[in-house]
Amino acid sequence: MSKTPDAPFPANTTSETVRVLRRILITGASGAIGGALARRLAAPGTHLLLWGRDMARLTLIATICRAAGATVELRQIDLAEPAASLAAIAADDSAAPIDAALLVAGQGDAVPPGQIVEPAEQVARLAAVNFAGPAALAAALATRMVARGQGRILLVGSAAAFHALPHAPTYAASKAGLARFADALRLAVGPHGVIVTLVSPGFIDWANGGRPVPRALLLPLEEAARRILAAFDAGVGHAIIPRRFALLRLLDRALPGVARDALLRQFRP
Ligand SMILES: NC(=O)c1ccc[n+]([C@@H]2O[C@H](COP(=O)([O-])OP(=O)(O)OC[C@H]3O[C@@H](n4cnc5c(N)ncnc54)[C@H](OP(=O)(O)O)[C@@H]3O)[C@@H](O)[C@H]2O)c1
Repeated sequence: MSKTPDAPFPANTTSETVRVLRRILITGASGAIGGALARRLAAPGTHLLLWGRDMARLTLIATICRAAGATVELRQIDLAEPAASLAAIAADDSAAPIDAALLVAGQGDAVPPGQIVEPAEQVARLAAVNFAGPAALAAALATRMVARGQGRILLVGSAAAFHALPHAPTYAASKAGLARFADALRLAVGPHGVIVTLVSPGFIDWANGGRPVPRALLLPLEEAARRILAAFDAGVGHAIIPRRFALLRLLDRALPGVARDALLRQFRP
């Protein structure tokens, strides 16, 4: 079942369930969404494991989180390297059990201007970073969490997963793969005390995003972070934010093939 916690929540409410989680991993913590989630989760008693590649931005987020009372560990890591990320997750979870993991890291590359098809290297890289990497991390953690009988995993997908986007085939496909993986993992581990949540955002507005899309389709960064944590806290299987992207998914499914193809060929944000 797909539930979307799109109802208004009180401002600045970081979920109560999430607040009691003590050891939280966030991948992509150097990025816009991961950083916003880290800032919201930072509180006394919380230990944040912040992963990313850009140490300068990780350090900045860590400073903010420490000022809010959290303790923080940073890890510089390339999630395109499966052996390195699986070794890292084993090390961090063996040091002390991870209560919750927010797997946010991802790349949004599209077909380069003037080209028709994505470069093959880009296809392989996006498949690794957006699908294989987070899926393998989730599997490794879920195995450990099942053994403990508890744990929470959040995967950040995308509303792009619902559509065959000719301008971003691998982004759409990697997020579609991640979505199916998340749903299957949720079914497998739910009975063993592990909660898996997939959030599929539409367009999120942040300072460097530079989105040439209508404002009505943009969700402000802080509002997106609040809704992601609300979905995580509520333990819903799948949240689409904002809700109108669920309607676009329905439209994609309902339109006759010829009309759908014509629309998708024109769409290039
Ligand atoms: N922004 C949107 O409108 C939107 C919409 C739907 C879904 N999403 C999804 O939300 C997630 C976060 O996006 P964002 O908007 O916050 O983008 P962002 O600011 O570019 O952040 C991306 C994060 O992923 C990390 N990352 C990328 N490649 C990595 C790699 N090979 N190894 C380790 N870390 C890597 C980046 O780390 P470094 O910067 O340190 O390299 C950064 O922390 C992504 O999964 C994206 O697909 C975003």
